[in-house]
Amino acid sequence: SRPRITVVGSANVDLTFRTSRLPLPGETLAGQTLHQGMGGKGANQAVVAARLGADVSFIAKVGDDGFGQQALDAYTADGINVSFVQRESDCPTGTAAIMVDDNAENCIIVVAGANAKLTADDVQSARAAIEQSDAVLCQLETPVEAAIKAFRIARAAGVRTVLTPAPAKLVTDELLSLCDVCVPNRTEIAEMVGQSVQSDADASSAAESLRKRGVKQVALTLGGDGVLVLDDSGIQHVASHKVDAVDTTGAGDSFTGALAVSLSEGLSLVEAARKASIVAAISVTRMGTQTSFPTQKEIQQWFVK
Ligand code: RIB
Ligand code: NA
Repeated sequence: SRPRITVVGSANVDLTFRTSRLPLPGETLAGQTLHQGMGGKGANQAVVAARLGADVSFIAKVGDDGFGQQALDAYTADGINVSFVQRESDCPTGTAAIMVDDNAENCIIVVAGANAKLTADDVQSARAAIEQSDAVLCQLETPVEAAIKAFRIARAAGVRTVLTPAPAKLVTDELLSLCDVCVPNRTEIAEMVGQSVQSDADASSAAESLRKRGVKQVALTLGGDGVLVLDDSGIQHVASHKVDAVDTTGAGDSFTGALAVSLSEGLSLVEAARKASIVAAISVTRMGTQTSFPTQKEIQQWFVK
């Protein structure tokens, strides 16, 4: 049967400005192209899970503006259950201004808008969906109280909890103690453990220290350097796939959504990370976030080529 995934988190519109190089303070630059698509860490994870065949419910808030309607239509087109996506009046839909240069470097400004209005009560209203899931996924572009509520419900029901600790400064000890799988990147784990993470040894010890704080499985994403996975069976490295990167925005979200689907299907952490790395690799070869996420069929084609 299809894995059931519930995502609690942010829904944004992503406006991606393609430019040869990033602007300096005070500078006005002519951009090359404008790309509009749906983003937000929560929605990104929900969409990739749905494209990989999961039965997905999304708990989120969008504005009562045109972007909010476009977001709902897009999630519905991907087969996501949107009955827990509320429209907040007098509030804009979350919006991200993303600049991407010729080297696929980016910088992003996110205005939270309706995302900031998601409450623990909103999560409580979706209790049954969480309890019937194989995994619940949270990130921190929506209030931490909502994430804690979701993880408490999940823990009590024996549902796997998956955390993207972004922004890292919002992570609490309580949240970590309720976290089965934590998927930080290098910057996020450095902030969480309070030390820089450069060498392999730094990465291993940082991942170990998350385990000491209650996390059962860690998948530390290192971009082109692959993924470090750590659980009861020890530490393992998963190599990245070499691709020509166009836009890496949302690659981590595509990895996390895919990882959760594969774990729900019974794959081991390292097997799940291998498959999720393929999903992330495909996503970086194309512009945008959700517009760049592959379907199950594309992933199979990737294997044969
Ligand atoms: O993780 C990528 C996402 O971060 C983008 O889609 C953007 O909306 C920001 O939330
Ligand atoms: Na992309």
